[in-house]
Amino acid sequence: MTSHVQPSVKALQGQLLTLLMGNWIATSISMAAELEIPDALDGAALDSSQIAARIGAETEPVARLMRLLHALEIVDEQDGRYRLTPLGHLMVGDHPHSMKDLAILYGESYFHRAWSELAGGVRTGEQPFVRSHGHSVFEHLTANPQLLPTYSAGISVGSRFIDEMADLYDFSQKRIVDIGGGDGTLLKAALAAENTATGILFEQPENLSAAERKLGEFTSTGRCSLVGGDFFTRVPAGGDVYILCRILHNWDDDESIRILRNCRSSIEDDGRLLIVERVITEPPSVITSGFDLHMFVMTSGRERDLTGYGRLLDRADFAIDRVVELPLEMRLIVARPR
Ligand SMILES: C[S@@+](CC[C@H](N)C(=O)[O-])C[C@H]1O[C@@H](n2cnc3c(N)ncnc32)[C@H](O)[C@@H]1O
Repeated sequence: MTSHVQPSVKALQGQLLTLLMGNWIATSISMAAELEIPDALDGAALDSSQIAARIGAETEPVARLMRLLHALEIVDEQDGRYRLTPLGHLMVGDHPHSMKDLAILYGESYFHRAWSELAGGVRTGEQPFVRSHGHSVFEHLTANPQLLPTYSAGISVGSRFIDEMADLYDFSQKRIVDIGGGDGTLLKAALAAENTATGILFEQPENLSAAERKLGEFTSTGRCSLVGGDFFTRVPAGGDVYILCRILHNWDDDESIRILRNCRSSIEDDGRLLIVERVITEPPSVITSGFDLHMFVMTSGRERDLTGYGRLLDRADFAIDRVVELPLEMRLIVARPR
């Protein structure tokens, strides 16, 4: 006979308490990144006073923060000295798979303010970011250009998850147009992997400086150009491969269809559109459901299932060719003009 052992109320209370502390935990990790504690510990075993001296802080609060980072397995401790764990190493700035910039971005106060309006947004259907700031997140970034470097650096961590992108698609001899290409991380990976490819990075004019720096080696040799503009108006013509990486999830269906139709009128007949997004599957996962709610909080967009993407593409005269699984619940959706 099988017996289902119910967790005790105390165990459930402990589980719920830990979940309720999620905000404090995430903030502690973000602030440790901002204080550059993992960078200070890279290759070193230091006690709290040494860490405090390296980062220019007070020993006692550093010790309290370190105790939580130890509990979270971001650091190990021996004889009062802390050392990074493999998890903690991912928060060092120059680690090849560093997530430091994402940790800093998620700690930004405009993210927290928007999330604090979630209940109001759920009640009224209004976008929490607009409730809390009076305008959209992209208007907020345009009005506050000092936020752009942290935004672009943090967002680009997400496109670094896709390191096999160049293996997944043959970019040889292709003119790649990366629409809303951010700081150029993805386009740089494609150009570096395939030296017969050329590229155009299309971005809002005020957000081109990060890509100017990242793609300098390719712009200086003429393999890449940067074009400023608005994808709701037009996108550069004449490309073979158009990329929309984590763009459509920022916009509602009508807005997404406008972007897709602009791609459709610019793409060559035998061209391809590559959409990179998280795709909702059943049963729900924490990562994709969490990002879907984050999209509700921050934008007019959403994460969609594959049927949702098929419907959008159909209305913009594209058809899905194939779908490829990428790390961390991302998908590459390859579409062709109909
Ligand atoms: C979530 S980020 C994705 C960046 C990049 N594709 C990636 O995956 O790392 C969305 C990008 O869209 C750009 N963007 C927003 N509105 C735009 C518009 N109207 N025209 C062109 N780009 C826009 C933003 O500046 C931002 O870089």
